[in-house]
Amino acid sequence: MNAHITGTGRFIPPDILTNQDLSRMVDTSDEWIASRTGIRTRHIARDMSACDMGEAAARAALDTAGLSPADIGLVVVSTTTPDRPLPSLACDLQLRLGLENAFCFDIGAACSGFIYALDIAALYLRTGGVTHALVVCAEKLSAITDYTDRRTCVLFGDGAGAVVLSAADKPGGLLASYLAARGDGGAALHCAPGGCIQMEGQEVYKFAVRAMPEAIEKTLAKAGRNVTELDFIIPHQANIRIIQSVMHRYGLPPDKVAITIDRYGNTSSASIPIALDELAREGRLRPGALLLMTGFGAGLTYGATLFEWSV
Ligand code: UT7
Repeated sequence: MNAHITGTGRFIPPDILTNQDLSRMVDTSDEWIASRTGIRTRHIARDMSACDMGEAAARAALDTAGLSPADIGLVVVSTTTPDRPLPSLACDLQLRLGLENAFCFDIGAACSGFIYALDIAALYLRTGGVTHALVVCAEKLSAITDYTDRRTCVLFGDGAGAVVLSAADKPGGLLASYLAARGDGGAALHCAPGGCIQMEGQEVYKFAVRAMPEAIEKTLAKAGRNVTELDFIIPHQANIRIIQSVMHRYGLPPDKVAITIDRYGNTSSASIPIALDELAREGRLRPGALLLMTGFGAGLTYGATLFEWSV
């Protein structure tokens, strides 16, 4: 059995926070934010919870997969901002969506959460225990952002992305993945209970430009594939300069690299599935397309996964 992505969905909250808005809140400017990060706008979930956003993204993914809630056997949610400590956001989604045949849990891998969650779900599909799994990344980073700290508040946005993974006895789907963590770097990006995100930006930056190439190369090597064979790469959207460093390193042209950071900012683990859903709905992912997704984040965690698109 191979694990294939059979549906995608996203939800972006309607309220927009622009660089101009932020420049009225802290000592910053559109020029600084755009040139240092590539971000122009981010969306904020004013009256919505992570669960509300995750529900909308999950409904869209189920719809594109053509499945009913009862078909789902597993729900894995990645979130840094669950609505409450207990029960898990995955169980709340089960109730809201009527996913009566699923077992459900959340994982904590911060911005690498989609890469981690996909791999975990795929393991259950490959061993035959589950036929369809729902992976949901729902992030309300505005709830843990300090809007008096210019070093972090310009970076983050809210949103959710989801995919349905289905087991099928045909080639393609998930070809290889590589997950890693470096707990000794965890102090560079953290959040205390009830507090806001604290970040040593340059430390995380240096980590990211090493970690993503390592994850890309290890994943491609496992699959026996080469970077020149890739049709698309979806990097975690944290800073356009980090993405560009990966593009330059491998000579990737802009049309092969998904970029949403200008519109949505950093939506943590939701950034990759949101970009994936955009590519899929624009009809740019043809069957056979080779797609690599790679992320990094608090932990510090990082990883990559390689898919052959099959729907
Ligand atoms: O999802 C994973 C999470 N995070 C990341 O991936 C973040 C990785 N890091 C980064 O993206 C970048 O390090 C930042 C965008 C966070 C910061 O950019 P930088 O080029 O590394 O700036 P810096 O921290 O070296 O700061 C340069 C200057 C400082 O002023 P001084 O000390 O040189 O006078 C900062 O105080 O820029 C100042 N600064 C700002 N100025 C205007 C920091 N934030 C701002 C701001 N507006 N918003």
